[in-house]
Amino acid sequence: MKPNLGVDIAGVHFKNPVIPASGVYGFGKEYESLYPISRLGGISCKGTTLYPREGNPPPRIAETPSGVLNSIGLQNPGIDYFIEHELSYLKDKDTAIIANIAGSTVEETVEAVRRLENTIVDMIELNISCPNVKEGGVAFGVSCDGAAGITRAVRRATTKPLMVKLSPNVTDITSIAKSVEAEGADAISLINTLLGMRIDINTRRPILRNNVGGLSGPAVFPIALRMVWQVANAVKIPVVGMGGIATWDDAVEMMMAGASAVQVGAILFSNPLAPIEIIDGIEKYMIDNDIKTIDKIVGTVKPWRG
Ligand code: FUM
Repeated sequence: MKPNLGVDIAGVHFKNPVIPASGVYGFGKEYESLYPISRLGGISCKGTTLYPREGNPPPRIAETPSGVLNSIGLQNPGIDYFIEHELSYLKDKDTAIIANIAGSTVEETVEAVRRLENTIVDMIELNISCPNVKEGGVAFGVSCDGAAGITRAVRRATTKPLMVKLSPNVTDITSIAKSVEAEGADAISLINTLLGMRIDINTRRPILRNNVGGLSGPAVFPIALRMVWQVANAVKIPVVGMGGIATWDDAVEMMMAGASAVQVGAILFSNPLAPIEIIDGIEKYMIDNDIKTIDKIVGTVKPWRG
């Protein structure tokens, strides 16, 4: 019998625990020619704001050893376009839809979330961790008060399951996680990107026009794994792990650290089939190890003591 890869997070069913991360997958259209989107556990859509945004001026992407530095600046078509065009495209794709929502202010963020109330969106992922915008973004996510305040306001504005996406650019990730849990978050996702920089030694200019950007990709995986493990041990709500996952065994590691599901990001730029390979790899691992349900993997790491 085939193992059951299905997972329920905050009342939302994901047929498997693999979700393309926000920002690398757009709204799905570009990938449809490669495989049916219905194979995915869910999709986390590109970070969307109340009003359309053009993002930062280029260059806004730089390759790094085993990673990528981005400073996109939340380019997106705005919440109304998202509802009218992207959601209508996604509605019959038979996969869970996560709307990743960001804003320059609490009020803007709340209004964007409100507009999703009567839509087919399954879950809100509140983005308090984008490092590439001048207002809002990670500014909300680097203090317990900021994270708690915006989570409280958004919680009041929606009946939809609420997941909060945390920044790794903090000293104590567990205190931020506890703050959003206390304000009614149903789940936590982490990590967003790590703030980084590259310099062109010929021009002496930073490679990114924004000077700095967010680092993701396999280089950050051990940091993400450590933070997911710490957060999963600090809160009672489910954790969705991401940060540098490139292969199925990375995903299994992330789940052993405590993630109920995983998001897959930067690897899609070099291997767009990665989510499918990861789903198939997890299934084979479960068959080979006689694991019948995916929850038997989650949080099963046996840390050394003493
Ligand atoms: O710049 C960006 O659009 C990145 C967003 C994010 O990291 O959440």
